[in-house]
Amino acid sequence: MESPFKPDILKGKVALLTGGGSGIGFEISTQFGKHGASIAIMGRRKNVIDDAVSALRSLGIPAVGFEGDVRRREDAERVVEATVKHFGKLDILVNAAAGNFLVAAEDLSPNGFKTVLDIDSVGTFTMCHEALKYLKKGAPGRSSSTGGFILNISATLHYTASWYQIHVSAAKAAVDAMTRNLALEWGTDYDIRVNGIAPGPISDTTGLSKLLPQEINHNSRDKMPLYKVGEKWDIAMASVYLASYAGKYINGTTMPVDGGLWLSQPRHLPKDEIKKLSRTVEKRSRATPSGLPTSKL
Ligand SMILES: NC(=O)c1ccc[n+]([C@@H]2O[C@H](COP(=O)([O-])OP(=O)(O)OC[C@H]3O[C@@H](n4cnc5c(N)ncnc54)[C@H](OP(=O)(O)O)[C@@H]3O)[C@@H](O)[C@H]2O)c1
Repeated sequence: MESPFKPDILKGKVALLTGGGSGIGFEISTQFGKHGASIAIMGRRKNVIDDAVSALRSLGIPAVGFEGDVRRREDAERVVEATVKHFGKLDILVNAAAGNFLVAAEDLSPNGFKTVLDIDSVGTFTMCHEALKYLKKGAPGRSSSTGGFILNISATLHYTASWYQIHVSAAKAAVDAMTRNLALEWGTDYDIRVNGIAPGPISDTTGLSKLLPQEINHNSRDKMPLYKVGEKWDIAMASVYLASYAGKYINGTTMPVDGGLWLSQPRHLPKDEIKKLSRTVEKRSRATPSGLPTSKL
């Protein structure tokens, strides 16, 4: 799908994306690149990174990949340094790396719970922490008045409660808290904007295939306000907007990009009955005694 944005709105920017080699992260890498950014991607699997870098370069996008695990501080430091060494600076950090699986809370070991928090939450903090010295205003390659941008990929699972997702719900709640706190502290001190995107179910991703396995017969589309599952492109376009100058006053927010799904509830009354029903209910309500004691005087 064509982007509605001008192709140079991220011109000259350098972006590092954890989990940028697959799924939603790769689509953000691609769209950032198509809008003028140079791309560094980080992940654990070399073949995934190599394929992603080749695909980006075949589109004419300057791209480089680094193996690394966000749970390891030394990896985070090495990849941030290597990115700056390669491209000369760092403008944008996207934290998209995450782990997920369906599991009932009673079957989830505390270790499994911790692993997801280590990747999603602690990993996000570690990357932000290591990237700070290059994202702050006055850092190498950046002016003394303009800081960089951090985008944390979250979820909507924790807005209410989600079946079999206690680990990810807890992890993404922590990510959202970090988005707000860093926006406050680093926005004030270093002119760094920090925002998040909370995707709903996104088609053609590992995430969705794990949460809604094809073996389970589901009618998820019927339950959605817009009657459709999102696309990776939807998340990437929101990312381009937030990372661009158009988003310069947006700081500390996590934008749900889910078609309104997290708000949705099954319709409890048929739409064409509402008018008729309202009149009947109103009439009955007016005829019913108010409950106040009547005067005996
Ligand atoms: N798909 C959805 O419907 C959906 C909905 C809501 C939120 N999200 C969020 O969107 C993001 C992308 O999800 P996706 O579905 O596109 O999944 P995905 O393709 O599996 O993306 C996850 C990426 O993170 C990398 N990664 C995982 N653990 C890592 C670690 N310890 N260190 C470094 N990299 C690591 C993976 O590469 P390696 O395994 O090679 O390291 C992979 O490239 C996630 O944050 C997810 O929570 C997705």
